[in-house]
Amino acid sequence: MQIPGATSSRMSRRFSRSGSSPLTAAVLPVPVSAAQPQHRCGSLKRWQTISKATSPEDTDMNELSLTINGRPVTVAPGATILDAATGAGIEIPTLCFNKSLDATGSCWMCIVELKGKNRFVPACDTLVMEGMVVETENEALSSMRRQSIERIIEQHSGDCMGPCELTCPAGCDIPDFIDAIARHDEREAIKIIKESIPLAGILGRICPAPCEDECRRHGIDNPVSICALKRYAADSDAQSSERYLPELPENSGKKVAIVGSGPAGLTAAFFLRRKGHAVTVLESGTEAGGMMRYGIPRFRLPESVIESDLATLRDMGIEFRFNSEFGTAVTLNAVKSEFDALFLAVGAQKASTMNIPGEDIPGVVSGISFLRKSAFAPQMLPGARVVVTGGGNTAIDAARTAIRLGASSVTILYRRTIKDMPANRAEIEEALAEGVTIVERVAPTLIRSLNDLLEITAIKMEQGEPDESGRRRPVPVPGSEFTVKADTIISAIGQKVDSAAAGAAAIESGSGGELLVDPETLQSETPWIFAGGDCVSGADLAIQAVAQGKRAAHSIDLFLSGKPVVAEKPAFNSSFGARDEAPEAFYQKKSPAGRVPVPELTPEVRTTCFDEVVTGYTAESAREEALRCLQCRCNAIADCRLRELASRYLPSRITVQHDHPGFYKAESAEISMEREKCVDCGICVRMIEQLHGTAIDLTIMTESCPTGALSLPG
Ligand code: SF4
Ligand code: SF4
Ligand code: SF4
Ligand code: FES
Repeated sequence: MQIPGATSSRMSRRFSRSGSSPLTAAVLPVPVSAAQPQHRCGSLKRWQTISKATSPEDTDMNELSLTINGRPVTVAPGATILDAATGAGIEIPTLCFNKSLDATGSCWMCIVELKGKNRFVPACDTLVMEGMVVETENEALSSMRRQSIERIIEQHSGDCMGPCELTCPAGCDIPDFIDAIARHDEREAIKIIKESIPLAGILGRICPAPCEDECRRHGIDNPVSICALKRYAADSDAQSSERYLPELPENSGKKVAIVGSGPAGLTAAFFLRRKGHAVTVLESGTEAGGMMRYGIPRFRLPESVIESDLATLRDMGIEFRFNSEFGTAVTLNAVKSEFDALFLAVGAQKASTMNIPGEDIPGVVSGISFLRKSAFAPQMLPGARVVVTGGGNTAIDAARTAIRLGASSVTILYRRTIKDMPANRAEIEEALAEGVTIVERVAPTLIRSLNDLLEITAIKMEQGEPDESGRRRPVPVPGSEFTVKADTIISAIGQKVDSAAAGAAAIESGSGGELLVDPETLQSETPWIFAGGDCVSGADLAIQAVAQGKRAAHSIDLFLSGKPVVAEKPAFNSSFGARDEAPEAFYQKKSPAGRVPVPELTPEVRTTCFDEVVTGYTAESAREEALRCLQCRCNAIADCRLRELASRYLPSRITVQHDHPGFYKAESAEISMEREKCVDCGICVRMIEQLHGTAIDLTIMTESCPTGALSLPG
């Protein structure tokens, strides 16, 4: 549509109120507050009448003096308190104010106190009077601003961030990297991913993708294949002639030692290096990667992918020292004499025991030692019959590895149901397709050695009372014991923390061996020592360790800069609700279109080798899948005034709105309007009114909107 006065350039698109755009009537709101400024109390109105009586026409041109926050300030007559404060470099929060428009004084975010008058007035709409004493920050003002923003937020609805990225423990900007793939800009995609997940190739393969469970696409058909797209971006980068390397600042002159080269340690190394610090990773083994290298079989995570993610870290100048076990090969004193800070990320690599008779007889091995051995000796023979106990990824990985090593029968014994298994869903399905048998609701009670064979006795379980996790506790059914014969029994019921690292660092550890640090900052009681990842949280998802590595880097950087070590405050978030609770019209953005399948080897082929099972998207299939994304993130997230104010006055809060009676999104070729994000500040309407008959720059109008209600179409 041709708009009067429009040019083809996006930056100079024009919108004329007298033009033919339907937006005037149908898209832009006409708030009461804009047409008739409303104030919340009569006394304020009277005060404004008085202050406006001393406007420039009524006074001489002498400067006026006032005091703001104890500072003497002078202004020309006709200036508002907001003008005076801004001129003096004092910030007063505003929402409905726009410097090119008449103030309406309607949102009350700019409220200030007139000392000695017992009055609170909006700074944007109150003229300075001689001798005024103004305070812009105090408890009463914060409380009033909080109430104002709460009232405004109640009328507002929308997703600041997509539920996918809110669910990602590392806070990956999923909508933006998917959008980059949809535009065939793989370089931009990997750059966005590495802002939160430096090990993109690894996590793109092993993460169970809790983000996909919350994807809004559930409201139409199936979630977007976020993880497969992340892997695609990482693989494209790995294959490119010039890999993405983040820009590095000047060297800070500070040195950090990191103990452990698992996901937490490597992530912390990446982000600390990006702050300009010299980083050395101390690894007890001969190669970096920790459990990612030895605890995850090659058919899920090829070594080349680990090397590829590590290559970026090496290219950034991160040093790796191998055979450097902390506490023996490298002492705390040695670290202290060479480094300014220490980050302990030693993981949770000690296998938990089943606590049943016979579990230490030959032929019974832990899941992690079985996987480690098979990584070094892929020709080892576990025998024809293998029994695995446990329901996590290690149990499933061990079972699938045993099949590849030639076992003809692999049985997993699990004390709850398959549905309750903590292992990745996709992995469980792949294991079943490969011939693994899962026996639900059974628990091992005894292992015996019978000549050349092992025999495991198990008992059937039924559901008891809910435990502390809310799940029903499995309880044994008396007299239901049965036995299974096996050549190898693999116990994979969990991992624990080895408290040796805490001892070597002389910091405290908990009853489970976990290192005790401040849960927010990950700083220990010894200020220069930090710890994070599984050695603090207990065995958890790799993506949780990545999140902790990033948090630790933030804290360590503050420590090295001599600043108070405080955690980053999460920003306010508005949400439409859970994955399928967005307004119906929101889901109509896209038509149903099933997931683009991620190609993989057939069970017949893959069980004969350790080749990677999933082969990944091509450029075209990745783009097709990326285009399924609903782009739930608000277009204004980077500069939304409402979110900024809500983050300041309603910290760490998530506002969820399930009812959407007023939802609509109107879009034309020039501008789009999301009604429920509008807070009726009236800026757009005043702009149209004030420029009546003349052309309005739509870019300026959308930029002036303090929320994401108005935007230029992407
Ligand atoms: S308009 Fe602002 S507060 Fe509302 S969803 Fe967008 S970014 Fe969040
Ligand atoms: S549709 Fe896209 S932006 Fe929305 S939740 Fe799913 S992946 Fe995230
Ligand atoms: S929030 Fe945006 S759309 Fe709503 S009245 Fe203000 S400027 Fe207009
Ligand atoms: S009342 Fe001053 S910014 Fe809204």
